[in-house]
Amino acid sequence: MTRRGGRVRLIGHLLVGVLVGMFLPTMSAVAGIYNTKHNLGSSGLNAASNFSGTEEICVFCHTPHGGDASAAVPLWNRQLDAGGFQTYDQMGTSTLDANVEPIGSVSIACLSCHDGSQAMDSVINEPGSLADNPSFSVGDWSGQAAAVQGRIGPVDVVTNLGKDLTNDHPVGIQYAGGGYSESYPGGRPRVDIDFNPPSSEVLSTGRVWWVDSREHPDSSFSKRDLKLYSRVGTRGSNVGELQPYVECASCHDPHVDYNPTFLRIDPAGSAVCLTCHAK
Ligand code: HEC
Ligand code: HEC
Ligand code: HEC
Ligand code: HEC
Repeated sequence: MTRRGGRVRLIGHLLVGVLVGMFLPTMSAVAGIYNTKHNLGSSGLNAASNFSGTEEICVFCHTPHGGDASAAVPLWNRQLDAGGFQTYDQMGTSTLDANVEPIGSVSIACLSCHDGSQAMDSVINEPGSLADNPSFSVGDWSGQAAAVQGRIGPVDVVTNLGKDLTNDHPVGIQYAGGGYSESYPGGRPRVDIDFNPPSSEVLSTGRVWWVDSREHPDSSFSKRDLKLYSRVGTRGSNVGELQPYVECASCHDPHVDYNPTFLRIDPAGSAVCLTCHAK
């Protein structure tokens, strides 16, 4: 018995070794978005409750051709609808001092699913050849509304933010009370003492900003820093100037698998909040 047990264990160990050897390369090849709730195809973690129509992952958000370019988001494969939103400033807190822009930038991309109004598989360019599928009409693949499909919940469930964003952390909001000034040393915004100063860098596309996190403290950008989005102000005291804004993807990166709610950094100890707010 003992000897047999030992042999079984040995074979077990060998098997584990072989399996680890077999799966490690595969696992690293499918790290990232594959194992997250943002894999909406019929592969990966949620395959059973997802679409059976495709094993593609990126197609639910990106397309190589023909994306919606009405906001500055990369190759977006969904219709962007900036209409009908209520923004945080409309609530009128007396403490808010920065400019709030209309919903746009990367936030409008998140909301093309998370406002609950479009089907999860309602994409501009479906997988495969459109010419082979004359029954497809653009933007309508199976056509069920998000809530009907149950993937993003009914209105008022947190995953479905809806169009009323007055009860959500402000987005499209200038960082640090607003008012970035070119003359400030290091290209930093004029810093409101309630905020930690951001870092910035001039790339070929213009100035980009982020807030260094404790997880990645050096002042070069990584996905574990909180990214700020450059927008040209259309309101307040910085009309026509490029400014740093907080958007949905400042706190969340839709591709990461190291935090289940796609946060760029671990929220323990309120680290997300304290990276920006000096409280
Ligand atoms: C659930 C939606 C979603 C899915 C699925 C998705 N992306 Fe993205 N992706 C986004 C958003 C939103 C942005 C803009 C975020 C930003 O600016 O950091 C983005 C930005 C990018 C960028 C440019 C910025 C960067 O981080 O390099 C690349 C490249 C990219 N995605 C590739 C992919 C690939 C490849 C896949 C499939 C394996 C994929 N994405 C799947 C939402 C998605
Ligand atoms: C293609 C549609 C789509 C886009 C675009 C999209 N999401 Fe999602 N997101 C989903 C779905 C579907 C889920 C899973 C909901 C569920 O099953 O609970 C989800 C889940 C999440 C969750 C986790 C919710 C939870 O309770 O675990 C967060 C956080 C999130 N998304 C944020 C974002 C942000 C931020 C963006 C933009 C950067 C974005 N999403 C873009 C479809 C999308
Ligand atoms: C200032 C940072 C910040 C911004 C901006 C932000 N979020 Fe979040 N979000 C969070 C944090 C923190 C959580 C809580 C996650 C957790 O507890 O794991 C969260 C949770 C969520 C959840 C999951 C809620 C749940 O409990 O299941 C969704 C969905 C989500 N955010 C989507 C968005 C979308 C869409 C936007 C833009 C309109 C956005 N977020 C903007 C920080 C932010
Ligand atoms: C990426 C930076 C960033 C992160 C992360 C962040 N905030 Fe904010 N937050 C801001 C900015 C900028 C404002 C606008 C403040 C202003 O101009 O008065 C704001 C506004 C607020 C307000 C409203 C203030 C008012 O006067 O009405 C509250 C409350 C708040 N944040 C709480 C939080 C909490 C809680 C977290 C963590 C879950 C968090 N924030 C994470 C940047 C951030």
